[in-house]
Amino acid sequence: MNKKEFLYEGKAKKIYNSDDDNVVIEFKDDLTAFNAEKKGSEEGKGALNNKITIELFKLLENAGVKTHFVKKIDDIHLLAKKLDIIMIEVIVRNVATGSFVKRFGVKDGTKFDKPLVEFCYKDDDLGDPFINDEHCKVLDLLHDDNEIEYLKSEARKINDILKSYFLERKLNLIDFKVEFGKTSNGEILLADEITPDSCRFWDVDSNEKLDKDRFREDIGNVKVAYEEVLNRILNK
Ligand code: C5P
Repeated sequence: MNKKEFLYEGKAKKIYNSDDDNVVIEFKDDLTAFNAEKKGSEEGKGALNNKITIELFKLLENAGVKTHFVKKIDDIHLLAKKLDIIMIEVIVRNVATGSFVKRFGVKDGTKFDKPLVEFCYKDDDLGDPFINDEHCKVLDLLHDDNEIEYLKSEARKINDILKSYFLERKLNLIDFKVEFGKTSNGEILLADEITPDSCRFWDVDSNEKLDKDRFREDIGNVKVAYEEVLNRILNK
């Protein structure tokens, strides 16, 4: 494997320098929630998230979304283009739950008429605060309105693609978080991961949660749920 110098360790991944243009991403078994106040680990989770991310990034690439994905390396590693990560967490919500319910007092499970896109400033020390378009420019996270609109429209496109893909697999895509980064040419690509760590999936028939909420809420069988998501991706 072409893993070279260690660059960065996040809560669920490690990043290594590969060459001038690429990085190696390693998916860890660690689980964190509530800004890392709750910590755990689930053997095999990293490999499941690597596989799920690879499948979903291939799907999105084929549907015209530009992503950082280059190729699978092995069970827990993938090769991705080197990017300057834009320090914004882009959240798309189809159904009110999680922090939205806490912030706005809306009934858990309320469906939105159309998807809601939110931005949070990616800063753990500050607790990833909610920001609006103007903050993006004042904080110099994005340069202009075009970039802001691009992130929103890509997020909506990703939602459209994933929502119907998962519905065919009897999963409701409730919400998710994505991140973007810029190449040295200034091109914006979808980065990071798309996994049950970063999405909420509810079974269409039973409403059973098949995502990190099982860890957040101590429901248990976290790995079984992630395996189920991968199985539905692979064996439709
Ligand atoms: O917690 P909240 O309801 O804001 O989360 C919305 C969606 O974004 C969920 O799918 C959650 O897993 C994801 N998320 C994330 N990383 C964060 C915050 C939220 O993956 N730091």
